[in-house]
Amino acid sequence: MSDAIGILTSGGDAPGMNAALRAMTKLAASRGVPVIGVENGFTGLLEGRLRPLTHTGPSGELGVDGQVDLLGAVGGTILGSAREPRFMTAQGRAPAVEVLAGLRGLVVVGGNGSLSGAHALAEASGTPVVGVPASIDHDVGCTGTSIGVDTALNTIVSSCDRICDTARAHHRAFVVEVMGRDCGYLAMAAAAAMGAEAVLFREQGRDEAQLVEAVETAIRRAFSERGKRRVLILKSEGVRTPCTRLVRLVAERLGDLRDVDVRATVLGHLVRGGAPSFRDRMVAGRLGIAAVDAVLEGRTDTMVAWAPLVPGGTPTSDPQVFAFPLADVLEHSRALIDGSSPITRRRVAMMSAIEGVLGL
Ligand code: F6P
Repeated sequence: MSDAIGILTSGGDAPGMNAALRAMTKLAASRGVPVIGVENGFTGLLEGRLRPLTHTGPSGELGVDGQVDLLGAVGGTILGSAREPRFMTAQGRAPAVEVLAGLRGLVVVGGNGSLSGAHALAEASGTPVVGVPASIDHDVGCTGTSIGVDTALNTIVSSCDRICDTARAHHRAFVVEVMGRDCGYLAMAAAAAMGAEAVLFREQGRDEAQLVEAVETAIRRAFSERGKRRVLILKSEGVRTPCTRLVRLVAERLGDLRDVDVRATVLGHLVRGGAPSFRDRMVAGRLGIAAVDAVLEGRTDTMVAWAPLVPGGTPTSDPQVFAFPLADVLEHSRALIDGSSPITRRRVAMMSAIEGVLGL
C-alpha cells in the first residue's frame, strides 16, 4: 500500500475545485504525506489514471508540484472530471475498490452523484473515503454552501446587470435561464439580488399555463402600471418549459402591448466557469484542510460541510466546518430536491412572499 492520499474531482466542475486541490496538496505535503491526483473523476479511478502532485526533494523532503501553487485562481478542475455510468453498480465499481486499496485514503470533491459514489466506495473498502461538497447548484445536504455556488451567483448577477443595461435601452423583458437541474436555488438567490420582477423554479410546482401567466402578469405590471423600462425574470433550468417556448407563449398574449419585446437568454455553462470568488477560494481551502485531516485521522464515509444549516455533525478544528456521515448527507440532499426538506419549504415560502415586493 502507498502512503499517498488520492484526490479526485467528479461530476459537474465548480469554480474553487482547484483551490481545494491546492489546499489539500499543500497541507498533506506539510505533514509528509504524498498526494496523487486521479484524472477524470471516477473514470480515472477505474482505469488507474493517477498522477503525483507532490515530489520528494534531494534531501528527502516533500515538495508540491509547481502547477499546484498556481491553482487558486483557476476555474474548472485541472484533474478533469466525468460522469461515470459504470459507477452505478457494485460490479462496475470493483476495479476502483482495488485501486483504492493501494492508497492511504481518497478525497472525492463533487456534488450529489459524486458523493453517492464516495459513499458506495467507502462501504466497499477499508480505505478512508471523505467527501468535499462542490456543485454550483447548492443542492448538497447538510452543508451551508458548496464550492462554486458563490462564484456562480456572482457570474449570474453580473450577467443580469449587463442584460438589464441593454433591456432598459430597448424597453425589453428578458427571461434569463440559469443552471440548476434539480434545485432552483441559483434562480431564487439571483432574483432576490437583482430585484427581478419574477422567478420561476421547479419547486414552485407551476404547470406551463401558470408559468405563462406569471410571466405575463409580471410584464404587464412592470410596463403598464409601474412604467418600468426593463423586466427581468429569472428561470431555473429545472423548469421544464424551454425558455424560447415560454417567451413565445407569453409574446402571443401580449399582442395588445405595443413596443413590448420579450427575449430569452440561457446562461448555461457560462455560469460554471471562471475564476473562483474570494468566498469560494476560502471555503474550498478550509473544507480541503478538514478533508485531509479527516483522512489522516482514519475517518471514512463522511463529508466535511461548511457552516451547516442542519443540527448535528462532528466538530473539526475549524469552527465553521463540521463532518457528517455521507449517508445523512445523501438523505438530506434527496429531501432538498424532492421538496420535503424544511429548508426547501422555507425557500419556496420566502420567494413567494418576496416575489411581489421585488418587482415594485
Ligand atoms: O453541476 C450541476 C449542473 O451544473 C446542473 O445544474 C446542470 O444541469 C448540469 O450540471 C449540466 O451538466 P453537463 O455539463 O454534464 O451537461
